[in-house]
Amino acid sequence: MAMVVSPLRHRATGEGERIMNLVHLSDLHAGPGFRPEVAHALRLRLSELQPELIVFTGDLVQRWERTSDWLMARGFLRRLAAPVLAVPGNHDLPVFDPIARAWRPLLRFEAVVAQSADSQHQLAAASVVGLNASKFWTLDLGRISAPQRHQTAALLAAQPPEHLRIVAHHHGLAEPAGKRPRGRLRGALSWVQALAAMRVDLVLTGHNHFPMVQALGAGYGHAFVWSQAGTATSSYYRHPEWQTNSFTSVCGDARELLVCVWAYRGAEGFVVAKRQRWRRQALGWQCAVGS
Ligand SMILES: [Fe+2]
Ligand SMILES: [Fe+2]
Repeated sequence: MAMVVSPLRHRATGEGERIMNLVHLSDLHAGPGFRPEVAHALRLRLSELQPELIVFTGDLVQRWERTSDWLMARGFLRRLAAPVLAVPGNHDLPVFDPIARAWRPLLRFEAVVAQSADSQHQLAAASVVGLNASKFWTLDLGRISAPQRHQTAALLAAQPPEHLRIVAHHHGLAEPAGKRPRGRLRGALSWVQALAAMRVDLVLTGHNHFPMVQALGAGYGHAFVWSQAGTATSSYYRHPEWQTNSFTSVCGDARELLVCVWAYRGAEGFVVAKRQRWRRQALGWQCAVGS
């Protein structure tokens, strides 16, 4: 029987102390390649974890033009028993319809997730900002615009100091070693610098279809945790060591975070494959214990 990780089990909590408990899903790719048996196992594990928020970092569908993909994605989202903050991925914009791409590229995405592509969600112990990095003028590459940077900085600056500051978007912050040349944002270095200046604690991304957790921003005076989620339900794996589906859970508070990568293992369902405990120090977050 797989272990279920409870946020309250890892550290004694004081009276009235607030603990964040979120799950990070990415790259559903509803359509060809979607694995219904994995989606079923995922729902079972989520019902045990009971996250207060599910952050979804894009590529909800395989093909924007296919209505059946959107219906499948909507059915999946409706069966999740937790609020969802979702940002679009490059697959969630039109490819073969240039008029739709120029005029209303986010129309279908925003209709299915029932929120705008840029959004914010407030938790008892955290503030989460979702940003659309998938622009209509580029097919695969992502970018965070100057207005998005300013709005994010203003939103986070207005949050209580004890709140975790979390930012989510589809494209990654650095190139996966030797992998996809389009696996990260354009202008990623200056965005990392901006995130460090905002004293962000955690950045959640997808797009590359394999999980990875590391610190970034130390060179700019504040290290934050960057967690890239794998593909939750698609059979399009892009890393030789991660030929399975996965998702990530994050729980904790402004002093300590527990990050777990859950991998799909057939009859066992989703089980913990990696676990890291992070602690906040004077210069930001450091991994204290990890596997
Ligand atoms: Fe994807
Ligand atoms: Fe993508």
